[in-house]
Amino acid sequence: MRKIAVLTSGGDAPGMNACIRSIVLTAEHFGIQVIGYKHGYNGLLEQEYLPLRPKNVLNLIQRGGTILRSGRCLSFKQVDSAKLAAKNLEALGIEALLVIGGDGSFHGACHLADYWQGQVIGLPGTIDNDISGIDATIGYYTAIETALESIDKVRDTADAFERIFLVEVMGRHAGFIGLSAALASAADQVLVPELCQDIHAELDNITQHVLAAHRQRGNSSYIIVTAENLWPGGVTSLAQMLSEKTKVECRVVILGHVQRGGSPVSQDRLLACKLGAFAVERALAGDNRIMVGEVNNQLVALPIQVSWESQKPLDPYLVKIQQEFFDITRKLNP
Ligand code: F6P
Repeated sequence: MRKIAVLTSGGDAPGMNACIRSIVLTAEHFGIQVIGYKHGYNGLLEQEYLPLRPKNVLNLIQRGGTILRSGRCLSFKQVDSAKLAAKNLEALGIEALLVIGGDGSFHGACHLADYWQGQVIGLPGTIDNDISGIDATIGYYTAIETALESIDKVRDTADAFERIFLVEVMGRHAGFIGLSAALASAADQVLVPELCQDIHAELDNITQHVLAAHRQRGNSSYIIVTAENLWPGGVTSLAQMLSEKTKVECRVVILGHVQRGGSPVSQDRLLACKLGAFAVERALAGDNRIMVGEVNNQLVALPIQVSWESQKPLDPYLVKIQQEFFDITRKLNP
């Protein structure tokens, strides 16, 4: 194998740069050239690329974002786009394409593989952690840390005014960041899609819980961590309804894209180092249409479609203890 390419696609995630670095250094070790496409699949269509050598990845492991930039390329779903990408890859003599991104980006890789002879390999990089079959995605741990730091600060002012605070975290349609950040920040309540079946019954539940908390501990802060895209009308409308029902002032903090930035924490850097190196090794071994990842601390190479074929469940033990902690307030007398 003489030449491979890498791109970062979809929502950027802290650790993508660390992963690019690992790919470049491992490829160098095996005498393989690397080129990096810019702006995700857009760069592949527009032939926007640069050679990546070890000197290009110096002083990079700690940097958030992605030096290759990212992009969402809706037109890549078309057959003509995949054929053009295949032609461009062939023109450059690329033998394997490594895609760092989420399941949408992995779909793109599979689509390309239908029209290209080369190998495609997915490396899970998204803060959402919503990729089935593996323990964690690159960027997830940093996003939890970022959310946690903010929630701790919100708690201070919430306490000072004895207010309810709704803190909205990212996750698209998955509750991994929400559940972990809620448990680690001792939030009073967590609202994530996997655990909220009936959204309207939920409003009554929250109201009852806030009132029980007040009976039990007097006026005090009350923190609710909620996933984005959950509440009809958005989190601000939930805050309004909650204020009316509980007669307690309720404020909203939307953490948003802050969670995607920042220097990756050690878990994301190490995961990125391992997956980048392993992906190059799997490319050398001839693997195609795979995703690399870790399961119980062991590196695995799985068929890429495993990433989207089923919905990744939340950690059942975290769910159980969150529920148990939540129930204590309901049961306890003042
Ligand atoms: O997939 C990562 C993610 O940050 C999601 O959590 C969020 O829903 C989405 O991307 C936001 O995308 P954009 O930056 O395109 O608004």
